[in-house]
Amino acid sequence: MNTLQEFTLTRPDDFHLHLRDDAQMQAVLPFSARQFARAIIMPNLKPPVVTTALAAAYRDRILSALPDELKNRFEPLMTLYLTDETAPPEILRAKNSGIVRGVKLYPAGATTNSAAGVTDITRCYAALEAMEKNDMPLLVHGEVTDPSIDIFDREKIFIDTVLTPVIRGFPSLRVAFEHITTQEAVDFVTAAPDTLAATITAHHLRYNRNAIFQGGIRPHYYCLPVLKREHHRQALIRAATGGSKKFFLGTDSAPHSRALKENDCGCAGIFTAHAAIELYAEAFEQAGALDRLEAFASFNGADFYRLPRNSTQITLRKAPWQIPERIHFAGDVLIPLAAGEIVGWKML
Ligand code: DOR
Ligand code: ZN
Repeated sequence: MNTLQEFTLTRPDDFHLHLRDDAQMQAVLPFSARQFARAIIMPNLKPPVVTTALAAAYRDRILSALPDELKNRFEPLMTLYLTDETAPPEILRAKNSGIVRGVKLYPAGATTNSAAGVTDITRCYAALEAMEKNDMPLLVHGEVTDPSIDIFDREKIFIDTVLTPVIRGFPSLRVAFEHITTQEAVDFVTAAPDTLAATITAHHLRYNRNAIFQGGIRPHYYCLPVLKREHHRQALIRAATGGSKKFFLGTDSAPHSRALKENDCGCAGIFTAHAAIELYAEAFEQAGALDRLEAFASFNGADFYRLPRNSTQITLRKAPWQIPERIHFAGDVLIPLAAGEIVGWKML
């Protein structure tokens, strides 16, 4: 039987990306800009990107950090970090800026640099109303933070206690449920109105929670939301490859230095930008659905965000290559996902 050796697709976008800042950003940005035309840039810097002015300055830093050969080829789509204090005029400024494409809800304490996040979603209802009125999408880290709730159940409980009331209360608000990890999230998004969509990472498509404990504790497989059971992974594969327009690519590539990962309290985050589209291609191929990759990676997200689809293309070739063991990271090293392993597809 002939197997596919090479295929071309519309250049993809990454609808969830952590670029960090300064020298760290300089180190990781080229990996994303080489593959993706645009990326939704997460605002969880220290201090967080809470105003349009901060987003504009961050955008300028990203554009000037692009290497010459990638200048004018990568567009950062900026986001604001929602807090209990975010006021409606800030939402209006964000909308009018033309550079802010969403506002990110981090429940306070849910993940990396989320301390300034939302303590109670009802405190944000004035901001959500302004977003709904001005057609500014809400991006959500969908996990509750209650320490009495099991870490593997936090997404499910978030759906019931936060997401459901938000969707009911703000029926025209577009919501991107980020990096979904469970069957419950897939079912919820599928059944919800078209205002709700979801991103899926390559790591949640490729691994179940056993990866974190394979022969010992594996910090480079630790992210939030944490990897789940195999049946959840299979639900994500079905969602990503099933042809629904509601699911699209968002890597959540989140670099941390090796020292901060291999630590007695290691940071959450998996770096995938070095081989993002190839890692997705492998997951789709294993599901027998390579023909569905283009819609997932290049159409559905652009349509949800009401952006034009990209007009350029990329080509992937069946040409196995070895992922580096480590990547330079601003005087530190970064361990990429699948370090030292062979990945079957290579972007030309
Ligand atoms: O694993 C994660 N890392 N999840 C997040 O939500 C944040 C991210 C980061 O910024 O490192
Ligand atoms: Zn993230």
